[in-house]
Amino acid sequence: MSTREVVTATAVAHPNIALVKYWGKRDGPLNLPAVPSLSLTLDGYHTTTTVGPADADEVWLNGARTDDAKVRRVLDLLAPGRPPLRVVTANDFPTGAGLASSASGFAALVVAADAALGTALPREALSVLARRGSGSACRSLWGGLVEWRLGVRVDGADSHGVPVGVDWDLRLLVAVVSDAKKAVGSTEGMERSRATSPLYAAWVANGPRDVADGLAAVRARDLPALGAVMERSTFAMHGTMSSSTPPLLYWQPATVALLHEVFALRARGVPCWATMDAGPQVKVLCAPEHAEGVEAALRPLALRVDVHRPGGGAHVSSPS
Ligand code: PMV
Repeated sequence: MSTREVVTATAVAHPNIALVKYWGKRDGPLNLPAVPSLSLTLDGYHTTTTVGPADADEVWLNGARTDDAKVRRVLDLLAPGRPPLRVVTANDFPTGAGLASSASGFAALVVAADAALGTALPREALSVLARRGSGSACRSLWGGLVEWRLGVRVDGADSHGVPVGVDWDLRLLVAVVSDAKKAVGSTEGMERSRATSPLYAAWVANGPRDVADGLAAVRARDLPALGAVMERSTFAMHGTMSSSTPPLLYWQPATVALLHEVFALRARGVPCWATMDAGPQVKVLCAPEHAEGVEAALRPLALRVDVHRPGGGAHVSSPS
């Protein structure tokens, strides 16, 4: 491998937001999920990652040098015995704040490195590799609606993203409450929930049914049904988080105010549904014709509101 010529390649990926949530691992090192999940890739946020030759491994994130062992490990898994690489990555949205920057980050990394090293792996294999860096990253290899299946293999080779194959013009509004980095990362949080939450077993048992209901709603293009399962999954996940010891409470006062506003909008006949991840931001799902009204209602309660359409999968933007 080390004799292969390395070129410089750049890839772009978008974060995805789970409509049916992933929380909990059945295998830590392999990042194998305890539950399946279903996500929507967003169009408005981007991670751009360039991988090229270097004298020794170097990783740069948003202009600062970092030593990210996970990045190096994913590169080693992609191409055992690889030559040293320089990885330069940047996000045009807050990093580590519950906006899925690790999902777009590892999706962009594997696509750029695959092009730089000429490994030409199938997308499913790249999804498996991205999963090793961050579980949810395996869904950002594809655009739009993506399922992450549990898989049955012990090596995890069949636990990757699968495009749902339904092209649905939805809107997902991200009401940003704080740009601060989250206090407890998802790996540590998931392990705390597994080890201490009395609700964890029920959360895991319900996961397959939630994804089946989510997929049925997507195939029927039934937005109220999809919104209902998204909220059910979200609140079950946050119930599992907050019943952990010590409690994982990612919400801020503005998070709660935004949730009440979503419920109030719905009570007034505006169809919209809320979800949250491991951070205080509130994401709201609605049809295109309601996005403007929902955005106007959320804006006074948030730092800003970003409106997303379904985005595309991770892709090479400039091989050289
Ligand atoms: O892939 P991770 O380790 O960043 O975990 C993501 C967990 C949630 O965002 C809370 C849920 C999800 O399915 O994306």
